[in-house]
Amino acid sequence: MNHFNYRENRLFCEQVPVRLIAEEVGTPFYLYSQTTLARHFNAFDKAFAAIPHLTCFAVKSCSNLSILKLFADMGGGADIVSGGELFRAIKAGIPGGKIVYSGVGKTAAEMKYALRNDILSFNVESGQELLALDRVAGECGKKAPVSLRINPDVDPGTHAYISTGLAKNKFGIPMDQAPELYHRAAGLDNIRVVGVSCHIGSQLTEVSPFVEALRKVKKFIAALAADGIRIRHLDLGGGLGIRYDDEQPPEPRQYAEAIAAELSGLECSLIFEPGRVLVGNAGILVTRVIYTKEGPVKKFLIVDAGMNDLARPSLYEAYHAINACDDEKRPRIKADVVGPICETGDFLARDQEVPDCGPDELLAVMSAGAYGFSMASNYNSRPRVAEVMVDGDSFRIIRRRETLADLIRGEELA
Ligand code: LLP
Repeated sequence: MNHFNYRENRLFCEQVPVRLIAEEVGTPFYLYSQTTLARHFNAFDKAFAAIPHLTCFAVKSCSNLSILKLFADMGGGADIVSGGELFRAIKAGIPGGKIVYSGVGKTAAEMKYALRNDILSFNVESGQELLALDRVAGECGKKAPVSLRINPDVDPGTHAYISTGLAKNKFGIPMDQAPELYHRAAGLDNIRVVGVSCHIGSQLTEVSPFVEALRKVKKFIAALAADGIRIRHLDLGGGLGIRYDDEQPPEPRQYAEAIAAELSGLECSLIFEPGRVLVGNAGILVTRVIYTKEGPVKKFLIVDAGMNDLARPSLYEAYHAINACDDEKRPRIKADVVGPICETGDFLARDQEVPDCGPDELLAVMSAGAYGFSMASNYNSRPRVAEVMVDGDSFRIIRRRETLADLIRGEELA
């Protein structure tokens, strides 16, 4: 459930008409509902209330400081994948002890930064990374807490670009190589084995792949224990899907029940790394129609947001519903909604039923909170858009629109 609703034909975010915000901040902009964000965090976190766990928000899905702080204030930690995300998490007040660090290519500098901040776990993805971490931790006079990221070879049944737990994916350590690496880790001076981690993909709409992965990892943990290696926490990653169109993803509660049913005999706490399920439907992208045009075979709505602002449709052929901000019942036409970028791949919707709007009218690109702004770029030298948060009957800018000066920051006329 989210708080983007029509009242008397006009789109509201909580108690605020979207048009009002557009008039004040201009377009395009990302718009988030704080009540929805908090509700989603609670729904997820409370679903696991009976199980010792930590909910570490996947920063990559939506990295705005205000959003990180909101979840931090609710007890959340962070799942990070870069030094930059660590910087953000710390700025937002997330303690190092609630931060887990995933990713296949951590550099020595990033490792040092994370060690200085005493993070909860390095989710290590290869033998070379393990040795590098041991060396760097030694140089820092620290013992690095490590979970090896296991690749359970489970098909998440999602888009090829966002499945991560298959044998052919670059992520994690194959199950058959992992025991040897755990033994090696246990023998390293500057490594402390703390956990096992596993993330199989994103936008999963069934619980069965999660259960299949958990069963495999559970067996693996039991085998490690029999070998004298004790695992204190199991990090099950993120991946729970949301509804963009007519998907029927499991509710967090159903996901939690399915996980809980598999936990007997497992003596470790759980870590989750949800991203999309917390923020996806808590944010929209508001854009204005600049022109319309009719080609020989298609109609186009040309809007002021492009693939640099929301990359998902171009990158994954992802579907985002598009609604008229000022007229819920506007008749729909089949059209492409395209941006101003000089690329054929620059579209927000293709051959989609969209409101028959004309110049100056406002459109809402729905379900854009996850991997929306966080994947935005300056391509075509377009300043990145503003991010706005609504809370009840008020709104605030949580990231100002970039200026032309921002575009050339750091460049030299040399
Ligand atoms: N943990 C790890 C290690 C991950 O790689 C990811 C996402 C997550 C957690 C969070 O997954 P979520 O709960 O959001 O599904 N840009 C793509 C999604 C890429 C996901 C990458 N990893 C998209 O827009 O669909």
